[in-house]
Amino acid sequence: MQLFIEETYEDMSRRAADLIAAQLIVDPASTLGLATGSTPIGLYADLVEDFQADRISFEQVTTFNLDEYRGLSPEHDQSYRYFMQKNLFDHVDIDPEATSVPDGANPDAQAACESYEQAISEAGGIDLQLLGLGHNGHIGFNEPCDEFPVRTHVVELTESTINANSRLFESIDQVPREAYTMGIGTIMKARAILVVASGVDKAQIVRDAFFGPVTPQVPASVLQLHPNVTVVVDAEAGSLL
Ligand code: F6R
Repeated sequence: MQLFIEETYEDMSRRAADLIAAQLIVDPASTLGLATGSTPIGLYADLVEDFQADRISFEQVTTFNLDEYRGLSPEHDQSYRYFMQKNLFDHVDIDPEATSVPDGANPDAQAACESYEQAISEAGGIDLQLLGLGHNGHIGFNEPCDEFPVRTHVVELTESTINANSRLFESIDQVPREAYTMGIGTIMKARAILVVASGVDKAQIVRDAFFGPVTPQVPASVLQLHPNVTVVVDAEAGSLL
């Protein structure tokens, strides 16, 4: 594992964006795995800036997002598809057809998850997977549990995740209770993984995930077994290391 502890959120974002930009420069036809949430917003803005300054292009890039709420249409302003359009896709030269987010509007969980897993395989797998880190160690929507889930699947969200996400909805009742998410196996198959974490409230989980025991009770801890992981944190999130 490679670890960068950067001073501020802005520095963390710039470092992570540089690593993604380097991937696109080395292989302009990369397949990226992408995350939503608060943490990557700054790095997406940096990538948009890099695109506008002609340093990188997304023309040949393919993307797969980690997860999506089940029951939200792509147009819903809290859907992860909407987030990706707003923060990245609408501002770069990516082919819309080459961007995938699990189909939250498909009520058939098995079909939605199977076809997603298959599309990733058909694209040749993910070159670089970006991940944020939940307070309970979740990655994607893989919550603490007794066994690492392998493939893309439907999950019931925990109260802690529903509470954390309720800030983005008008009321907690509007937060969807289920989501489609890549499995831990799907994530671990990526050839390289980039994890970002920011803020003092992530300090304990950063320590537990990357320096504690590997256990499905801390889903991100499995990343210790991946041969190519880079973790980029700001000073607050790295304050217990
Ligand atoms: C988002 C995702 C989640 C977040 C995690 C951290 O697609 O899969 O696992 O990465 O909840 O979220 P933030 O960055 O908002 O703290």
